[in-house]
Amino acid sequence: MKTIELVAAARPNFMKIAPLWFAFAKEPWAKVRIVHTGQHYDFDMSDVFFQEFGLPTPHVHLGIGGGTHGQQTGRVLEAFEAHLLESRPDLVIVVGDVNATPAAALAAVKLGIPVAHLEAGLRSFDRTMPEEINRIITDDICDLLWTPSEDADAHLLRQSIPPKRIERVGNIMIDTLVMLQGRIGGNPVLADWGLQEKSYGVVTLHRPSNVDAPEQMELIVDQLLQCAKQLPLVFPVHPRTRANLEKFGMWETLQNSPFTIVGPQPYLAFMRLVTASRAVITDSGGVQEETSYVGIPCLTLRENTERPVTITHGTNRLVKPEQLATCLCEALEKNVSPANIPLWDGKTAGRVVKSVERFFMQGGGHA
Ligand code: UD1
Repeated sequence: MKTIELVAAARPNFMKIAPLWFAFAKEPWAKVRIVHTGQHYDFDMSDVFFQEFGLPTPHVHLGIGGGTHGQQTGRVLEAFEAHLLESRPDLVIVVGDVNATPAAALAAVKLGIPVAHLEAGLRSFDRTMPEEINRIITDDICDLLWTPSEDADAHLLRQSIPPKRIERVGNIMIDTLVMLQGRIGGNPVLADWGLQEKSYGVVTLHRPSNVDAPEQMELIVDQLLQCAKQLPLVFPVHPRTRANLEKFGMWETLQNSPFTIVGPQPYLAFMRLVTASRAVITDSGGVQEETSYVGIPCLTLRENTERPVTITHGTNRLVKPEQLATCLCEALEKNVSPANIPLWDGKTAGRVVKSVERFFMQGGGHA
């Protein structure tokens, strides 16, 4: 029996561990546990996803909560190390690029516990982005690096990572989408809110570069108001964004605008909203991938992306805030179709399981 611990901290991590949990739970040789660090703690940002996906209550909850980057990273390092000293799993799996990802990987690797990174090798080459630093550090210290696309492999090799650590397994977010496709289609959110298919757009914003500075936030809100004249907008507001909109005195403006303003949405409702929309405006990483896979035009309010395959093969376009309304107009005139990206096929978790089996067969030590 091999014990595997899946580490999850924040909203986008829960979509990534769900297919892994189900894939490992089926294996007679694997005992799998979920460790929740507690970075996201509101029901709408955390528990609802465990319920929707049918995941068990996390076996361990580190209760880290919010804080500065240093606080979040330091607290996970300390608390996860203390946990590992007791639990001593055979493998730790970290996902994505949130603050817990490098912290948990560091705690494990220093105790001699092998650690794997799923969604390895993504690079925006923008070191002002906290996630970029998390990605670089995590990839350097992990024993197994599971990548979603060819560019990711190349980035790791350029970082002098030995090729034997790298394996392209595909995109885990697509597994979740495929797994839940039927339930997404049956979700009643459109009827509940009186929305017609293909008659509205969806907005999500939470990157510090967009929502932490009043001038940038004001520019974006102004453009969104112009966009709303072309297409009604549904805007599920992230807690960081809401707090800043309130602080900058813009929350009232939005409340009185033609937008549908709602709180963070559960996965099924959110994906139903996205799949039935005309276009999506976002700064999320995962949403760039999901819109490409389902063939919905995506305007990404960022200067760069660590997921360039969504531009070259998908429906994504990077836009500057001041171009947003014009770009939306152009996007509405174009026909787009779902992207066909190699290994974005709903079978990534199965490839991860095979990779882990091979890893243990070869001795299961540090690579
Ligand atoms: C974090 C991740 C980001 C990811 C995003 C998804 C890092 C560096 N950032 O950013 O990569 O795309 O999650 O949401 O790890 N808050 C609540 N309730 C919650 C969670 C957060 O009110 O359940 C508040 C926090 O107290 C904080 C703010 O929202 O004030 C931001 O949360 P934080 O976890 O620091 O970063 P995110 O912006 O969510």
